[in-house]
Amino acid sequence: MVQKGAAVPVTQTTPDATKTGFTVPSTKEIIITIDGPAGTGKSTVARRLAQRLGLDFLDTGAMYRAAAAILIDRQIDEQEIGELVSTVLGADLHFDWSQDPPTILAWDTPIDHRIRCDDVTKKVSFVATIPELRSHMVRKQRIIFAQHPRLVTEGRDQGSVAFPDAPIKFYLDADPRVRAERRIDQLGLDGSVSVEEMSERILERDRIDSTRSDGPLVCPEDAVVIDTSVLSIDEVINEMERVVRERLDDL
Ligand code: DC
Repeated sequence: MVQKGAAVPVTQTTPDATKTGFTVPSTKEIIITIDGPAGTGKSTVARRLAQRLGLDFLDTGAMYRAAAAILIDRQIDEQEIGELVSTVLGADLHFDWSQDPPTILAWDTPIDHRIRCDDVTKKVSFVATIPELRSHMVRKQRIIFAQHPRLVTEGRDQGSVAFPDAPIKFYLDADPRVRAERRIDQLGLDGSVSVEEMSERILERDRIDSTRSDGPLVCPEDAVVIDTSVLSIDEVINEMERVVRERLDDL
């Protein structure tokens, strides 16, 4: 079994539970948090875990990305924090839950295509340091959980700040080089950005994310840590499912 706060040995393989058909009983309300830095496979894993367990999936990074896209597209000066915050509040960011994965909307317009662009990725760490925006996002995330009480939520502060009482918390980590390769792949940047450059960007983002005063990237004390460096997505999800099944009996 995985120890609290201990990384899964990279050589460990888990029995394939993919075909078990296990889902969280529909009467059960539950929140599962997945924290960790960029490029650990968090988003993919969170979405697939939610699908497998029959839960809703919340991508909180999309909310900060949406704020960064608003900053750029509305040509708001970075120094004008008040203007940025009020514009983001006015955008009424929300998700369309009829889509899989849910799409994010600002001013009732889907902006999914926009939030993965490279210029947004470059600005988002800065945006995510703004305390007024963070508290707004955390408030929204708690409202979303009230409306979707069977949820897998993924981000950097979900288990530590947004949902400290979550009964099941995971923290995903991976080697920076592996994370860089995955990030290039995910953002479709093959050829235009080197692995070295992306590693540097990732380490810089980690530095910003983990040293900010508000909601820094930390591993929650009671999280199950999984090192995804050499595990496939399926292996990670199988391990998570195993932990969920084990914990569910006590909830
Ligand atoms: O997971 P991602 O790359 O889509 O996240 C984008 C940015 O948002 C990243 O710089 C960290 C930040 N973020 C955050 O600070 N808190 C969250 N809950 C989710 C993302």
